[in-house]
Amino acid sequence: MRKPFVAGNWKMHGSKASIEGLMAGLNAQASALKNVDVAVCPPAIYMDYVKTLLNSPKIALGAQNMAQEATQGAFTGETSAAMLQDFGCRYVILGHSERRALFGETDEEIAAKVSVALQMGLTPILCVGETLEQRESGVTEKVIAAQLDAVIALTGVDAFTQIVIAYEPVWAIGTGKTASPAQAQAVHAFIRDKLARLNRSVAEKVIIQYGGSVKPDNAAELFAQADIDGGLIGGASLNADDFMAICQAASA
Ligand code: PGA
Repeated sequence: MRKPFVAGNWKMHGSKASIEGLMAGLNAQASALKNVDVAVCPPAIYMDYVKTLLNSPKIALGAQNMAQEATQGAFTGETSAAMLQDFGCRYVILGHSERRALFGETDEEIAAKVSVALQMGLTPILCVGETLEQRESGVTEKVIAAQLDAVIALTGVDAFTQIVIAYEPVWAIGTGKTASPAQAQAVHAFIRDKLARLNRSVAEKVIIQYGGSVKPDNAAELFAQADIDGGLIGGASLNADDFMAICQAASA
């Protein structure tokens, strides 16, 4: 049995005041969390602030990105895996479609970051997903296979017991247009099957989150699918009640 995992991707949102309120809401409900792993991924500058406010061991910390350089060096503006570790961060989102599309990160760069995260003891949340154009031209599986293959080539398939995959169709992110449970399940099954061809026991263990407009009212149906093991939540993770309702849906 895979334990579901729900992570909140706050993206570039929040202020000290709004985060204080959000954390109060999460702290108040965290003790009710059972049979689900939960993380919040604030902007890097707020990581320590969130850590200070957090008063539950049931919620872990994650980052939204990190440098390819593991420790330190002349890389102005970057944050390293070692620095994230230093602040008690456990997860790091890598290859989010916004990083790919807006900041030009390639499959190879993302794979290199996944490898560094693993070496430094962080759990990568590796995002994969197709654009609407790619879906409509029938290359969804090809795109996702290439995104995964770049990582497999560098880390090997066995490393996927330590990697979380987040399937996020780009057309469903922040649009309110969620993939239907059947559409999402089909891609999740494709991903698990692809890994199973290389190592069946790894494929059975790997956590595959769904992301893209997950809300309290659609979460249960998505998480009921056989190969969906929780979610990567954007907009709804900025509201404590909504995020906790989604976490509860994953644990049900
Ligand atoms: P959304 O974002 O839930 O706001 O669609 C998901 C994500 O980008 O991780």
